[in-house]
Amino acid sequence: MSPFLLTRTLPEDATGADLRADVLHGLTRTPKVLPPKWFYDARGSDLFEEITRLPEYYPTRAEREILIARAPEIAAATRARTLVELGSGSSEKTRHLLDALVPELGSYVPVDVSESALTAAASALLDERPELSVHALIADFTRGLALPGTPGPRLVAFLGGTIGNLLPDERTVFLKSVRSLLAPGDALLLGTDLVKDERTLVAAYDDAQGVTAAFNKNVLAVIDRELGADFDPDDFDHVAVWDRGHEWIEMRLRARTDVTVKIRELDLAVSFEAGEEIRTEISAKFRRDGVRRELAGAGLDLREWWTDEAERFALSLAVAV
Ligand code: AVJ
Repeated sequence: MSPFLLTRTLPEDATGADLRADVLHGLTRTPKVLPPKWFYDARGSDLFEEITRLPEYYPTRAEREILIARAPEIAAATRARTLVELGSGSSEKTRHLLDALVPELGSYVPVDVSESALTAAASALLDERPELSVHALIADFTRGLALPGTPGPRLVAFLGGTIGNLLPDERTVFLKSVRSLLAPGDALLLGTDLVKDERTLVAAYDDAQGVTAAFNKNVLAVIDRELGADFDPDDFDHVAVWDRGHEWIEMRLRARTDVTVKIRELDLAVSFEAGEEIRTEISAKFRRDGVRRELAGAGLDLREWWTDEAERFALSLAVAV
């Protein structure tokens, strides 16, 4: 039997306390905001998996294309013995990387806020690769991380373009905390979606089947369940807009009418005017120069920049200096 360890790096009730703080802070300010990490309960994680299979949502396919093409180069360049994956989700794309990193690779450390995603992914993975030791961490990687003492060289992978869900200041802090997990010579593999025409971008976040709309509204169901709120998802419309100044997509929930929501556990009533919006996610799109600059600011040297054939998405390989 290969080892499977699951570590919760936060106290059992930390998730609840974090959600309360985020909702209290985000819904009592103007404009209203909610952090995107609260989309991902079991249903939200399923909806996200469904998004990755939509015809309009190209990033997952584009990144997989790059990973398949470049996994041997990534393995040769890093010779990693430990792969840490931040925001691992279903670990589906990671298989290509794991295959290329064998036989050097001994440990896989998936890190995610979703316990259900972690346990499902780890058990599927161990069925296929019983020689691998998997140490899953339930953690919020935006809050600083402590890793288990696994052997180097380390490769930290942050795929899917999830770095785009952080605001620029948050990315600076995040990249520095990633750098602190690495020894000189260790590597970061970073997936970033790229700036492209507005139609393609907006369609990826406002699909014809309404799966992204359901995913966006799921955050209201999470707040209803966890904090005893009475949001009716039907009172809100899903909105996706391209902010060309910031070069990011914003997802919002827009109140259809004047509505007041009670949040029992916060002893709070939140009023919306018709048309008022909650910003639920930004998804920044990148250019090579910007990525290089942000990495350099954290002590990470961009060594490789690979895109898919259609140049929609990029994988960067950066080395800690
Ligand atoms: C978590 C970064 C992969 O921003 O594209 C998908 C989440 N939001 N559709 C993204 C998401 C709406 C996604 N990532």
